[in-house]
Amino acid sequence: MTDNTISINLVIKDERLKRKFEDMIASLKGLRVVAATTPPPVDLLIIELGGQIDKEFKLIRSLLDSGAAGDVFIVSANTNPAVLLQAIKTGVKEYFSLPLDVEEVTQALCAIREKKNKSAVSAPSRKGKILDVIGSKGGVGSTTIAVNLAAELAGRHPELTVALVDMNMLFGDIPLFLEIQPKYHWGEITKNIDRLDATFLMNILVRHISGVHVLPSPGYLNGYPAPTPETIENLLGHLQKLFDVVIIDGGQSLNHTSLRTLEISDTVLLVALLSLPCMSNSNKILKSFDSLKLISRENVRLVVNRYLKNSEISLKDAQESIQHDIFWTIPNDYQTTMSAINQGKTINAIASKSEIMKSLRGLSDALFPQQAQAGKKPWKLFKR
Ligand SMILES: Nc1ncnc2c1ncn2[C@@H]1O[C@H](COP(=O)(O)OP(=O)(O)OP(=O)(O)O)[C@@H](O)[C@H]1O
Ligand SMILES: [Mg+2]
Repeated sequence: MTDNTISINLVIKDERLKRKFEDMIASLKGLRVVAATTPPPVDLLIIELGGQIDKEFKLIRSLLDSGAAGDVFIVSANTNPAVLLQAIKTGVKEYFSLPLDVEEVTQALCAIREKKNKSAVSAPSRKGKILDVIGSKGGVGSTTIAVNLAAELAGRHPELTVALVDMNMLFGDIPLFLEIQPKYHWGEITKNIDRLDATFLMNILVRHISGVHVLPSPGYLNGYPAPTPETIENLLGHLQKLFDVVIIDGGQSLNHTSLRTLEISDTVLLVALLSLPCMSNSNKILKSFDSLKLISRENVRLVVNRYLKNSEISLKDAQESIQHDIFWTIPNDYQTTMSAINQGKTINAIASKSEIMKSLRGLSDALFPQQAQAGKKPWKLFKR
């Protein structure tokens, strides 16, 4: 929001009740009701509880966590103390029972307005940074790196909101890597692109215990339209408004949508092994980036995975052959990575002190140096 008015989203089914809120808001200066389709964030969400209380509280929590809603008021006829307690625990600011006490609501709205005026040191609206992790070949470890980097960032920096998007059209592995059972995936988005807003998106994302919000891939396209470059742009635009960091497991495909993703990304992690085929592919990929002007070279970080110190190809030879610096190396540790995958856990959860984990932590710090040093926002490395 660039102005100082309080944006309010009303998610109220009862038309009469909704109108009552609209009238109250209209009578107060500095407050306005926004359309349900307005992209996030909103300052205040006023929501009428429906019949699926647990699900609704879960959604409210994720909207608050991600910053999609600054504050939440609930309105409900349900005065069960257990529900009120759940509302408090979820971080709901006010709980209005019915019939509505107009005076009480007005005071609460004025308090939100005052809070915003006090903190009007005009914080910039969030624009998360996009990191696209792509492989120079299949099986080089893009998913391992994307998943563990996202979990590491979210786990070690709770002040950061992190999303992880699986762009592998058919064989998205992220649910297996993180042992999550998502109900939805981005096929729902391509199918309902006109309905895409913060609420819809947060409903589809699955929260992993590390704090990462995951957008899985469909695993199949049965009945779901394939994403277009426009869909991807729309989706990533919304995710950037909700999250500080959006990490994409981009796989290897270089179709229209993945090219658009690369173009929108702030940084690309190109994952390769120290092998001739991988170096040759990396070379071709980098040249394509140059000729298509997709992303400038300085924003492409080459990561050598499964690195062995006694490798036949040296790091120096590899750098010279592709004319690009190697940004990071991750040691070879098949046992740990495989064991993490088989257990559906992050590497940090099963081997936090292993060399590979130290390396991944180092990669996270190298990508987000300011975050590593202080509690500040980490965008030094990202350039546009
Ligand atoms: N640093 C590493 N050391 C040893 N093995 C690794 C390392 N990183 C990943 N692996 C292993 O490589 C295999 C492939 O990993 P992963 O699924 O992350 O690759 P990918 O590039 O995403 O593959 P795909 O092309 O199938 O999407 C896994 O068995 C994993 O355990
Ligand atoms: Mg993969």
